[in-house]
Amino acid sequence: MSITLAFDVYGTLLDIYGANEKLKTLVGDKSLAFSHTWRDKQLEYTFRRALMNKYEIFSVCVSEALDYTCMYYKTPLTKEEKQELLNAYRALPAFDDVISSLKQLNDSDYRLYAFSNGSEEMVESLLTTSDIREYFLGIVSVDGIKSYKPDAAVYQYFLSESAADTDKAWLVSSNPFDVIGAISAGMKAAWVNRFENKVFDPWGIEPTLRVKNLGELKDKIDEYYMSQ
Ligand code: LAC
Repeated sequence: MSITLAFDVYGTLLDIYGANEKLKTLVGDKSLAFSHTWRDKQLEYTFRRALMNKYEIFSVCVSEALDYTCMYYKTPLTKEEKQELLNAYRALPAFDDVISSLKQLNDSDYRLYAFSNGSEEMVESLLTTSDIREYFLGIVSVDGIKSYKPDAAVYQYFLSESAADTDKAWLVSSNPFDVIGAISAGMKAAWVNRFENKVFDPWGIEPTLRVKNLGELKDKIDEYYMSQ
């Protein structure tokens, strides 16, 4: 059976800081720090909601995290300004290496899926806007199981929805917590560290392989199977 690749969306295929130009016009010098707090809070809210069994769709986590971040930086934005930011977050650009790599993988018999905390409707729209929808066999959203990464159940859900062979199912993600979650649930995982600026969590669980961009992925996966 072919290899199945589950691509994380936010921060792996798409640049989550792609809304920063808009942010700069609204919050000025604070925009960089603001964007990091906003992203960190989104994730924290997903972790907490999954643990508490209080699932709400990802767009709610994004919006509530934005409200928190405005309060934290004492930058009151109007309802319309917040909506502009949320709209920008629904049209994020793909990283430069993404289109050519997806095309190469797709042409080589890999089964490509988008696998995200985002709802299916949101991911469908993000992939379409960034011109990469055509490369994926499907979208698997955690919304189908009403929990969030890195709950082991969501990786099991991915495996069953994609009908993947577990031994040949890879998560591809720039988020260390996602990589550790997938490996703990029995998948393999490639960690994408594009800017070489991230620290991988020292939990004693290592990514199956590391890449600097998606262009390296195919060769590294092929090498992995040749060395087995
Ligand atoms: C996602 C987040 C975790 O796309 O980046 O699932």
